[in-house]
Amino acid sequence: MIPVTAANPRVLSGMRPTGRLHLGHYHGVLKNWVELQHELECFFFVADWHALTTDYDDPTGIPQASFDMVVDWLAAGVSAGSSTIFIQSRVPEHAELHLLLSMITPLGWLERVPTYKDQQEKLKGRDLATYGFLGYPLLQSADILIYKAGQVPVGEDQVAHVEMTREIARRFNHIYGREPDFEEKAEQAKRKMGKKNAKLFDQLRRSYQEQGDQEALGRAHALLENQSNITVGDRERLLGYLEGGGRVILPEPQPLLTRAAKMPGLDGQKMSKSYGNTIALRDDPDLVAQKLRTMPTDPARVRRTDPGNPDICPVWQFHLVYSPDDVRDWVQQGCRSAGIGCIECKQPVIDAVLAELKPMQARAAQLEAEPDMVRSFINEGCERARDVARETMDEVRRAMSLLQG
Ligand code: TRP
Ligand code: SF4
Repeated sequence: MIPVTAANPRVLSGMRPTGRLHLGHYHGVLKNWVELQHELECFFFVADWHALTTDYDDPTGIPQASFDMVVDWLAAGVSAGSSTIFIQSRVPEHAELHLLLSMITPLGWLERVPTYKDQQEKLKGRDLATYGFLGYPLLQSADILIYKAGQVPVGEDQVAHVEMTREIARRFNHIYGREPDFEEKAEQAKRKMGKKNAKLFDQLRRSYQEQGDQEALGRAHALLENQSNITVGDRERLLGYLEGGGRVILPEPQPLLTRAAKMPGLDGQKMSKSYGNTIALRDDPDLVAQKLRTMPTDPARVRRTDPGNPDICPVWQFHLVYSPDDVRDWVQQGCRSAGIGCIECKQPVIDAVLAELKPMQARAAQLEAEPDMVRSFINEGCERARDVARETMDEVRRAMSLLQG
């Protein structure tokens, strides 16, 4: 596994087990995870407690959905060897951190998170005036902070939660980050960067603290970022030391927005289960072909002889995801001149989607045939995650005077 140093921040992300994954998840999230797992230390988990915040009245499907989701991840190329895959409820330390963080979380912060009111509006049929639902983003903060994750790959809709996590971390560090031998430890950490860097750090720190020089602060941050041989803990000390505060026990995470092309749904809106416009990763090939063959096209193109406009056709959106330039040119040309029919136009998309799904479905079938292997991947992941979570909890308890010594 790649060691976590200042230059290699840990990555953490999770998903609620709310049904079969589809191409939107694949293009928007999973492909990104697959890449990241080879570059950085990655933790990916099933947020089953988060599913419980909305589905508390019927949780019976959650365990199976969690298993299925892990199979989808593995089928899509997330590897249990290159990343740590686990289930939230199997690492109960998340709950302890959630509780301890709740002590310092102003109610207003939770009430102000935009998803709180939005989701209550959207899921009107359910009573979400619960303590657990209000705490949703704080549980997410605990998920992130317990691994000291530096980067959290999420979609746009989750950025507010990562922002709140940053505020919680800052508040925590401010209240509890003052270790008695802080200066001495920071000095030791500084020396580990080597003479030259230590001297530069001193200069920049002085410029910032004595003259409020923001540029020096920025340069010092960059200097710390570029140190590949100091630990996360030492970097936290040096960051705190630089700004004249205490130790940074829980580092502030950054959201990592995927710039992946938004995967269109079959109707041209964003692909999402709630719009009923998805192609699931494990949809039968016949069903996939049928869904694509019957998807709407430019509504003005009634007869085969009518020219069409790809700009307003959902099929064109699929070509943008799947087709190389020559095929796209063929579509543009053929559609606008009524040279090709819509069925013809869809064929390369059908072929490309099926080709993409084929190896995933083959892997999923293999995994389904060996459920014990999947379970053992999950068990190992849970153990690895717990080791890290336990360490952080030790520090957190100590900082909050819950451990002697
Ligand atoms: N709230 C996230 C979602 O709905 C899932 C999630 C829970 C998560 N905890 C997390 C994502 C921690 C990133 C990090 O998609
Ligand atoms: Fe859409 Fe292709 Fe038909 Fe044009 S030819 S309307 S791009 S499906």
